[in-house]
Amino acid sequence: MLKLSSPIAGCMRWGKWGANYSTTEYRKMIDACLQHGITSFDHADIYGDYTTEEEFGNALKEAPALRSQMQLISKCGIQMMTENRPQHQIKSYNTSAKHIIQSTEISLKNFGTDYLDILFIHRPDPLLNPVEVAEAITQLKNSGKIKHFGVSNFLPHQTEALRKYILIEFNQVEISIIHLTSFIDGTLDNCLQHNIVPMAWSPLGGGMFTDETHHRFRSITATATALAEKYQTGVDQILVAWLLTHPSGIIPVVGTTKVDRLLQAKQANNIHLSREDWFKLWIASTGEDVA
Ligand SMILES: NC(=O)c1ccc[n+]([C@@H]2O[C@H](COP(=O)([O-])OP(=O)(O)OC[C@H]3O[C@@H](n4cnc5c(N)ncnc54)[C@H](OP(=O)(O)O)[C@@H]3O)[C@@H](O)[C@H]2O)c1
Repeated sequence: MLKLSSPIAGCMRWGKWGANYSTTEYRKMIDACLQHGITSFDHADIYGDYTTEEEFGNALKEAPALRSQMQLISKCGIQMMTENRPQHQIKSYNTSAKHIIQSTEISLKNFGTDYLDILFIHRPDPLLNPVEVAEAITQLKNSGKIKHFGVSNFLPHQTEALRKYILIEFNQVEISIIHLTSFIDGTLDNCLQHNIVPMAWSPLGGGMFTDETHHRFRSITATATALAEKYQTGVDQILVAWLLTHPSGIIPVVGTTKVDRLLQAKQANNIHLSREDWFKLWIASTGEDVA
């Protein structure tokens, strides 16, 4: 049984797509996370235009013993146009067995590890062949290169088409107080039905709750601030706790580049929102009472 931390540290913004951390800064982040029990790190082959995994790996190579204390998550299936992949003429998806296996092997090399704890297919690919994907994943599992498999941004029917051929243990989707789709499109019901653990990407709306131009900013902030006062905590903890309330066991993938904010998100595990308080936030976000 794989044990993940809650939150998972999302590393998308640690490198070229955000903080541009040096190897020393990556190492500081990794050390601080591990020290505070945040042991799971979320990556994708494409982050930082295919550079972030390697930068993280460079920090890890300085202290290889840390590998066994963490869970490394990566994804494949998106092919981006960048100078680091001059062969890509357009942005597209590739879930061929060859690509899945090659991409995983590159990720392993970048991290300097011989296994990933979880590999995700990053996006549903209209050309996805479930039999072929299942064969690639089985091969990777049998060789010990990946321990667990998940999908990302898959709708229930897409998950089902693949689940017929291979065990799917995770679905990583966008869920936050400003992105409610998974609650109503069957995604979380599908997770509940098949013991698929949902992970929420952009659980804080990519920082939206600090963005005054968002059309629901006032109502969400006012409600979350009142609840923060009631539960004697902060607004971001309330917004994470709101996700944790769902019975499917959502694990938030928090993308901050600041350790303090990851620790604040971790405090949400100690907050138990009442049903009515949960619905106050739901209504603040949708702008209407429930029927
Ligand atoms: N599977 C997918 O398709 C997919 C797509 C997108 C992302 N992801 C994963 O999800 C992770 C999280 O995504 P995200 O970064 O968009 O989500 P997020 O955690 O909702 O937002 C993080 C952003 O919000 C800012 N922020 C402002 N106040 C914050 C606070 N109090 N606490 C935390 N962050 C605050 C952060 O800035 P500071 O750095 O200054 O704190 C950062 O820019 C990514 O790192 C990646 O691993 C997956």
